Amino acid sequence: MLFDFTYYNPTRIHFGKDSLSQLKGELEQFGESILLVYGKNSIKKMGLYDKVIAILEESGKKVVELAGVMSNPTYEKVLEGSKLVRDNKVSLILAVGGGSVIDCAKAISVSAYCEGDAFTRYWLNFEPVNNEIVPVGSVLTMVGTGSEMNGGSVITNEEMKIKTGRVYSPDVYPKFSILNPEYTYSVPQYQMVSGVFDIMSHLMEQYFSGTDNNTTDYVIEGVLRSVIDNTRVAIKNPKDYEARSNIMWSATLALNTVTGLSKEQDWEVHMIEHQLGAYTDCAHGMGLAAISIPYYRYIYSYGLDKFVRFATEVWHVSAEGKTKDEIALEGLNCLESFIRECGMVTSLKELGATADMLPLIANSTVLGGGYKKLTAEEVLEILKRCY
Ligand code: NZQ
Ligand code: ZN
Repeated sequence: MLFDFTYYNPTRIHFGKDSLSQLKGELEQFGESILLVYGKNSIKKMGLYDKVIAILEESGKKVVELAGVMSNPTYEKVLEGSKLVRDNKVSLILAVGGGSVIDCAKAISVSAYCEGDAFTRYWLNFEPVNNEIVPVGSVLTMVGTGSEMNGGSVITNEEMKIKTGRVYSPDVYPKFSILNPEYTYSVPQYQMVSGVFDIMSHLMEQYFSGTDNNTTDYVIEGVLRSVIDNTRVAIKNPKDYEARSNIMWSATLALNTVTGLSKEQDWEVHMIEHQLGAYTDCAHGMGLAAISIPYYRYIYSYGLDKFVRFATEVWHVSAEGKTKDEIALEGLNCLESFIRECGMVTSLKELGATADMLPLIANSTVLGGGYKKLTAEEVLEILKRCY
C-alpha cells in the first residue's frame, strides 16, 4: 500500500553530453551578480572552469568566486560564502562540483540573510527558514549524493565536532542542474566507488523499512541492479559513457525523493556515518560501506522477509532448499563481496578511526525508522564490529 502523498520537485535537469549549452538560457532568469562555488582543483584540471567562466562572461554576468570547498564542507566555509553573497548582492549561487560543493551552496543560500547563528537555527534546531533564500544552480562533476535534485545540505561544524544534514523544502532545491556524464570520467576510482556506495546506501536506507508491498520498492530494486551492473563496467573502463550515464542518473533517482516516496525509511547507517565523518573526515560513501555490513547483519532478522526479497531480487540468490535466514544472509554476503570487488572500505580503522573515538561516534542520532530501533549501546556494539 502507498501512503497518501503530494509530490513536487522543482529542479530542472539538463542531462547529456551537450547539457552545458543549457547554462546560458538558465542564467537569463537571474540578475547580474553570480557566486561561483567550486572545490579544490578538479574543475580547473578538467577544463570545466574555463568553459563555465566563458558562458558567464558571454551572459554579461559579474562573477564572484568561492573556491576551495572541501569534502565534508565546513560551516566556516558557509559563512565565508554568505558574506560574499551579502557584499555582492548575489542573485544566483552556481555550484560546480560534487555533493560537497552543492551542499555548501545550499547552506550559503539559507544562511546569507539569516539573523543569528544559522547552524544552530537551521541544522541543530531544524527551524523553518524565514529569511530570503538565494537561488542555487548546479553543474555536477561527481555522482553519489543526489544533492543536484534535492534539499539536502550536510555541513560539518568543526568547533562543535558535529557533521549533520538538514533536508530543506523545495525552495532550496537547485533551480536547475546540469548533468554531463563525461565530467565524471576524471573522478579517481576511490571517489567513484565511494559515490557508488553512497547511491546504494540511499536506496537501501529507503528499502529496508516497512512491510508494505509498494511500487517504490520495485523501483529501488531495479535501480540497485543498474548500479551494480554499470559499476562493474565503469571500473573496467572509466570512460564507458553508457555505464557512467546510468550511474549518474541512478544517483539522482536514488535521492530525489522518488525512491523514498510514500514509504517508511531507515537512515541509521547515514546517522552513524555522519558522526564518523565529524571525527575522521572520511569519504562519505566509504564510511557507509564500512558500517553497512555489520549493521545489516545485526538487524536483518527483524525485517527478515525484506532481506530475503533483497537477496533474491537484487542479487539473484536462489531460494531453493534454503531457510529464510540462509537466503537473507547469502544476500548480505553478495553485498559484502561486491564491496570488496570494487575496492570499497570494510573497516573503520582504514578510515582513520581510533578505538577511543567509537563511544563518541556512538552518540549519533537514532531515528528508529528501520526494522530495529537501536540503543546507544547497540550502536557502539555495531561500531566495534566495523572497527
Ligand atoms: O575538490 P575537488 O578538487 O573538486 O575534488 C573533488 C573531491 O576531492 C573530487 N572531484 C569531484 N569531481 C571530480 C573530482 N575529481 C576529479 N574529477 C571530477 N570530475 O572528488 C572529491 C569528493 O568530492 P565531494 O563533493 O566531497 O564528494 P561527494 O559528492 O561524495 O559529496 C560528499 C558530501 O555530500 C554529503 C556527504 O555527507 C559529504 O559531506 N551528502 C549530501 C547529501 C545530500 N545533499 O542529499 C546526502 C548524502 O547522503 C551525503 O550525506
Ligand atoms: Zn549518502
